[in-house]
Amino acid sequence: MKALIAYSSGYGATKEVSQKIGQVLQQENSLQVDIISIDEVDGIKDYDVVIVGSSVRADRPLANVRDFFRRYRFVLPTKYVALFAVCLAAKDEEGREKVKREYLSQITDKYPQLKVVASEAFGGKIDFDRLNPVMQNLMHRVLDKTGIPTFGSVDTRDWNFIRSWAENLGQIIASAKSG
Ligand SMILES: Cc1cc2nc3c(=O)[nH]c(=O)nc-3n(C[C@H](O)[C@H](O)[C@H](O)COP(=O)(O)O)c2cc1C
Repeated sequence: MKALIAYSSGYGATKEVSQKIGQVLQQENSLQVDIISIDEVDGIKDYDVVIVGSSVRADRPLANVRDFFRRYRFVLPTKYVALFAVCLAAKDEEGREKVKREYLSQITDKYPQLKVVASEAFGGKIDFDRLNPVMQNLMHRVLDKTGIPTFGSVDTRDWNFIRSWAENLGQIIASAKSG
């Protein structure tokens, strides 16, 4: 089985989560995994499993993720698909449910023919000092009322949770292979 992790990451947090998931799948499930920025994917026909990871901006998966699903809409239904988002709203269980229900559903509802074997939301990371003033303002508005600080560096990624999701995904893929 060969898996692709295609990620869309503005500032690197989603890329690091993708690398962790890839590492678990490689080490514990002996899967062959390519981890590629979604903009650099030039075909998916060689893969049995396609895992797509997206950061979130203004309540939506990034545009290149939406483009990816449109571009490969006829091929993706022949693959096992897994999806994950990395964003600040997913900092706890309630937030994760909201992100799945409101953000990831923008993709799964649009392409009901996909064989989605797993989808999850992981807490994100942001360095406010790296944002330009326009982005900082946008983030103040996004985070207003969430209780998440809007200064310094905030990292809500839970690496144990990410690891156990990847382990579970590996098992799902392994049973799909033998089934
Ligand atoms: C301009 C901007 C808008 C954002 N909008 C949202 C949002 O609507 N919901 C959310 O949960 N997180 C939002 N975030 C937080 C990012 O999703 C989070 O920091 C993520 O981990 C960034 O991943 P990346 O480093 O891979 O880009 C936003 C971040 C930025 C910079």
